[in-house]
Amino acid sequence: MADDPEIITHRAALAQPLETGRQRRLRLRAERAVAKQEAAARREDARFQKEAEAALEKDRPFMPPGGDFGEQALRSYRRFRVPAHQDTSAALRGTYPGIAEGGLGSRGIFIGHDMLSGGAFAYDPWVLYRDGVITAPNVVVAGIVGSGKSALAKALTTRSIAFGRKVYVAGDPKGEWTVVAQTVGGRAIVLGHGLRTRLNPLDAGYRPGGISDAEWTASVAARRRDLLGALAETVLTRPLGPLEHTAIDTALAVLATRTVDPILPQVVDLILDPDDDADPRLAEDGRQVGHALRRLVAGDLQGLFDGPSTETFDPELPMLTLDLSRVSENAALLSILMTCASAWMEAALMDPTGGQRWVIYDEAWRVMSHPALLRRMDAAWRLARHYGIANMLLFHKLSDLDTVGDTGTALHALGTSLLANAETRVIFRQETDQLGPTAKALGLTATEQSMLPTLGLGQALWRIKDHSMLLQTQLHPGEARLFDTSSAMSREPRKFTIPEVG
Ligand SMILES: Nc1ncnc2c1ncn2[C@@H]1O[C@H](COP(=O)(O)OP(=O)(O)OP(=O)(O)O)[C@@H](O)[C@H]1O
Ligand SMILES: [Mg+2]
Repeated sequence: MADDPEIITHRAALAQPLETGRQRRLRLRAERAVAKQEAAARREDARFQKEAEAALEKDRPFMPPGGDFGEQALRSYRRFRVPAHQDTSAALRGTYPGIAEGGLGSRGIFIGHDMLSGGAFAYDPWVLYRDGVITAPNVVVAGIVGSGKSALAKALTTRSIAFGRKVYVAGDPKGEWTVVAQTVGGRAIVLGHGLRTRLNPLDAGYRPGGISDAEWTASVAARRRDLLGALAETVLTRPLGPLEHTAIDTALAVLATRTVDPILPQVVDLILDPDDDADPRLAEDGRQVGHALRRLVAGDLQGLFDGPSTETFDPELPMLTLDLSRVSENAALLSILMTCASAWMEAALMDPTGGQRWVIYDEAWRVMSHPALLRRMDAAWRLARHYGIANMLLFHKLSDLDTVGDTGTALHALGTSLLANAETRVIFRQETDQLGPTAKALGLTATEQSMLPTLGLGQALWRIKDHSMLLQTQLHPGEARLFDTSSAMSREPRKFTIPEVG
């Protein structure tokens, strides 16, 4: 027990000499001083730490722009972010129905971007035809005044020149294509009162190889007969009777024995004053038709179509337009003027080896509001595919076609079928009250219909077969300058000055 080390220690402690009172006071004072110093040091440390944290906090942005990170992320507002995900357009089309259109592929002429998916959009009717997406290459474009119809037509056609296509504008009543044609190295034929230029709408046009003389004569005669009949019906605003058709036929048949290229004044003369051998009653039967056609040669349109053509059709040019802006006539005559001009051009274009060509009918509603002219146009459209031609028809309202013929008539059906048969339909902005039954004929959904009045400049709903896309046409600044049709509206007004007297 005596050797227990603990006891030894304890004993040792007990054995320490007792401190004196003074020593105790000194010890306690020293201990208090040490404790005080330690507390001051701790306070100092805490202060330093607080200042350092404050400085750090000051330098740190209150909240990172993308929100807090880590576990605090959900406490703060941040923008919705979906990690990028790539997939095929076929799969995305199913994942995001109504947002991502599968598209028509990237081959073709760049038009602009899809307003919903943001993807680029390219279009080429010949490519789509070859791929079996469409069965007819015609395009119908509708939209209110200034919505960007002509700008789209100009962009699409001028861009396609680089792909070897040629462009023909079969009547340009505003003359806005002239500068475009000149810029791309093409030509504008300007028609107008007092100008020397004449186009003969009865020109035989291009003669394809491999057909007999008899076939050729018959086909040219049929074309001339259709044109004259349509023109006469439009001026008379009624269908022609059988006797009147005979009067035209007889005059053309007599002329064919005398000349290869008859001109309108000769036809009119022969209708009003038939040959001596003809039935004497023919002059009476053809009187009204003769006088209707006389308007083209001696009336308001004199000097435009009443002589042999002064222009030859050059198939090498990239663009050819017929500028009708110098002829200011009333609406009915303008449609006749456009029909005569397009007839001359259409005859020249009937060359199946002429390559792929665009034929543009700007302001086509003028022609379409006349039943006979519409019928003629419909027939020309049906043939277009055979010649490698894609027609583009520009008009204002979907209801332009509703006005052709009364509802339920064959003519009305023709108007709507013209629209329905064009497998590419581009609908720019429409007024709410214009949507009407034709929008239903086009198969537009209620959402598509409601969208049409809200579209901006250059924005259009494209319907290609059963594909539906909302697209924005994009113009290069150079194109925008070239295609500008609104400069007259936006120009500074001329200052009014009082002329000095004396
Ligand atoms: N996508 C676009 N981007 C920029 N400007 C455009 C676009 N589309 C058209 N414009 C401009 O808007 C104006 C009107 O366009 P455009 O002449 O094509 O209209 P429109 O529909 O043919 O009119 P109208 O019915 O009078 O013929 C033009 O000056 C044209 O340059
Ligand atoms: Mg236009």
